[in-house]
Amino acid sequence: MSKTYRIAPSILSADFACLGQEVTSVIAAGADWIHFDVMDNHYVPNLTFGPMVCSALRPHAKTAGGKPVPIDVHLMVQPVDALAQAFAEAGADLISFHPDASGHVHRSVQAIKAAGCKAGLVFNPAAPMDVLDWLIDDIDLILIMSVNPGFGGQGFIDSALRKIEQARRRIEASGKDIRLEVDGGIKPDNIARVAAAGADTFVAGSAIFGKPDYKAVIDSMRSALAV
Ligand code: DX5
Ligand code: ZN
Repeated sequence: MSKTYRIAPSILSADFACLGQEVTSVIAAGADWIHFDVMDNHYVPNLTFGPMVCSALRPHAKTAGGKPVPIDVHLMVQPVDALAQAFAEAGADLISFHPDASGHVHRSVQAIKAAGCKAGLVFNPAAPMDVLDWLIDDIDLILIMSVNPGFGGQGFIDSALRKIEQARRRIEASGKDIRLEVDGGIKPDNIARVAAAGADTFVAGSAIFGKPDYKAVIDSMRSALAV
């Protein structure tokens, strides 16, 4: 499995009145990716931001030395294909979507890749992963939801650990270089368990942006992962 852990702060819990500064600050604090939650108040019961905000944040998503930091777009919207295209044009690096939000999942994956982005599939807590039987060779990322999508600050759903283990087995069997990301309720005190189940990439919103010192939280996550 990939030994390089990635921490992807979700700006869903950032201060929306100064998002550019929040992105800069969380990258200075050690963020590897910026997780960008797109909600349409239809597929999920909340409404966030669209491609124009992604495009406005793109110049801020870089290290102090100027190295670009990937923008990890998590689509919780319909229709998938048109919005994926818009986010690719807005500077997204990775685009993930929920299979049940797309009428033609294989086509959506191909559309994301044709637009020059890495493609991911997202699985809700009660969603089966059967589509991976047919799509694992085509994707770059599996995102396991450990809360129901829509809001930050929810509690981690423990059955996600079994799902992460299953996803890890599928990745190993495929022999492909696929990231296994987990989203929802991740904190310094449970991140090690999630990594032990097989995850290598961790979304965290409220745990990071809910504290005054982002670096202290990210550092404590990394120390928990190092044990
Ligand atoms: C929920 C979003 C998450 C959210 C996680 O629908 O997909 O990315 O920001 O927030 P926390 O880390 O607070 O559970
Ligand atoms: Zn998310």
